[in-house]
Amino acid sequence: MAIILIGFMASGKSTTAQFIDPDAIDTDTIISSKFGMTTAEYFEKYGEEIFRLREEEVLGKYINFDKIISTGGGIVESVTNQRLLSSQSQVVYLKADFEILVRRIAADKRNRRSLFENSTVSEFRAIYDRRTSIYEELSTLTIDTTNKSIQEIASEILASFS
Ligand code: S3P
Repeated sequence: MAIILIGFMASGKSTTAQFIDPDAIDTDTIISSKFGMTTAEYFEKYGEEIFRLREEEVLGKYINFDKIISTGGGIVESVTNQRLLSSQSQVVYLKADFEILVRRIAADKRNRRSLFENSTVSEFRAIYDRRTSIYEELSTLTIDTTNKSIQEIASEILASFS
């Protein structure tokens, strides 16, 4: 059964998944490779709604694999994906404070996030607040990542589902 990592942008989902298994599936990476552009470029070219459809296809395809899956922070925006995730028993929410995440996102020169670039701080905060309750509802395990290393987060996940 899949272990699926959810949480806000820059919460460490992809890094943790790759640490546990270098062959982990990352929904953003699959979309980028399939369309030959970064997720930010895809987002800007086709818009959020179409990007969410791509996420639905990828999650729908891989959710039944016995793999670790890291997801984009907005994967829970789709009702289809919410339904898919609520049928799973190994959904891990990597939780972190808004201020810490914003600092990481702003410092991340490799991954651009369109929603961050195109929102005011209070709009971005509203997205964070709204999603937080969805992450909480859909997850079967919450890990508060504050002051934890990737190794510690990974061990917690593995210990919970072994
Ligand atoms: C998004 C998060 C990004 C990426 C896209 C949209 C979001 O992934 O899927 O930019 O809506 O939260 P990360 O969570 O890996 O930053």
